[in-house]
Amino acid sequence: MSCPCSQTTLLRRVALRCVVVSCFAGFFFMYYKPDISFPSFDVYMKRDNRSKQHANATDVQEDAEPETVVLIWMWPFGFKLNLSCDTYNVKRCVLTADKSLYDKAHGVLIHHRDIRGDNLPKDPRPWFQKWVWFNMESPSNSHDIPHIDELFNLTCNYRLDSNIPVPYGHLEPRASGEETFQVPPKDKLVCWIVSNWHVQFRRVQFYNELKKHVNISVYGKAFEQPTSEEEYDRIVSGCKFYLSLENSVHQDYISDKLYRPMILGTVPITLGPPRQNYEDHVPADSFIHVEDFRTAKHLAERLLDLDRDDDEYMRYFDWRKRFDVTRADFGRTHACRTCTYLQRNRGYQACRNLKEWFWG
Ligand SMILES: *[C@@H]1O[C@H](CO)[C@@H](O)[C@H](O)[C@H]1NC(C)=O
Ligand SMILES: *[C@@H]1O[C@H](CO)[C@@H](O)[C@H](O)[C@H]1NC(C)=O
Ligand SMILES: *[C@@H]1O[C@H](CO)[C@@H](O)[C@H](O)[C@H]1NC(C)=O
Ligand SMILES: *[C@@H]1O[C@H](CO)[C@@H](O)[C@H](O)[C@H]1NC(C)=O
Ligand SMILES: *[C@@H]1O[C@H](CO)[C@@H](O)[C@H](O)[C@H]1NC(C)=O
Repeated sequence: MSCPCSQTTLLRRVALRCVVVSCFAGFFFMYYKPDISFPSFDVYMKRDNRSKQHANATDVQEDAEPETVVLIWMWPFGFKLNLSCDTYNVKRCVLTADKSLYDKAHGVLIHHRDIRGDNLPKDPRPWFQKWVWFNMESPSNSHDIPHIDELFNLTCNYRLDSNIPVPYGHLEPRASGEETFQVPPKDKLVCWIVSNWHVQFRRVQFYNELKKHVNISVYGKAFEQPTSEEEYDRIVSGCKFYLSLENSVHQDYISDKLYRPMILGTVPITLGPPRQNYEDHVPADSFIHVEDFRTAKHLAERLLDLDRDDDEYMRYFDWRKRFDVTRADFGRTHACRTCTYLQRNRGYQACRNLKEWFWG
């Protein structure tokens, strides 16, 4: 039915046209340079070719993920951080303090307490970059800065409802085969190490009341007995109870004052947010809360009872059969978690109510 000849002719014509068109297109693209500049995707698209030679099926998958750059804008409290995330098994993250990498940084970590008049980045923010508000102090100890609601995309804070929550410590299941925990020998009943002393602090009022009913061994600058890090461990591990009294009372503001005694094998007596909030972080039977008792006198009586009853006292360490405490490494944990967060969340985010959320 069809005519093979005429079809061949048609094909030939089509082929000829194709050649002409592609030649034209070839020349066009050889000489024409588009002057539209696209946003720089290279940071996201650049692939690391270092490990290509020994690439494996699974490695290829990993290599396909470009590196995420987190710029530490200022050393927090001037404290230089170790910029390796190896200990957290975080991959494909570059932490840097090199400000010349600003344009490539996916995240800029800004430590609230180090914000001064005009020490924030001044160059325009690349479209993909997120500024991370990093702060581990409580609202009472964090100054307000102007325009804070217009600056940040993410929060990295001890609060569990921040974008990148990093509490001062957390509990992890014990590795099987780990030695059972031994409570260290005790030569003191209740201890407190404190430097920051103000009569209006709730913790100072509480101490003044409690000391009427039980002997408290006190150390620290407030008692003209400054203690070094090593002394801290030696003193606190020798106490049956330690006063884990926060300097201010705020949601989730549960500092090393709780976690360090827990690690050392000393029962913390907590003053801070309500017991319920502590139980969001650590087991109910791992601490004594000052609000468990009607008065400081009742608390003191309980402590004296526990001093006489070892079995009862040892129950405060039951959780140690199941968990270990891990403290956040100030700054480093925050930067590495920020990196992981940025890898998983690449969409637009803004933190427009920081003031209300944190200080409100
Ligand atoms: C690939 O690696 C070589 C050296 O190993 C380097 O010179 C080159 O710039 C790399 N290419 C890219 C796209 O990173
Ligand atoms: C490739 O992957 C296998 C396991 O999947 C591993 O045993 C091997 O060491 C890998 N090879 C290289 C070169 O990474
Ligand atoms: C940083 O930490 C890693 C382990 O996480 C360690 O190998 C390295 O030596 C540390 N670097 C410095 C400069 O302390
Ligand atoms: C405190 O210790 C002293 C001796 O160091 C003792 O005399 C006193 O009774 C103790 N007070 C209380 C409330 O236990
Ligand atoms: C980060 O927040 C700023 C200020 O709200 C906003 O202009 C910017 O588009 C945000 N960037 C991203 C990547 O979400």
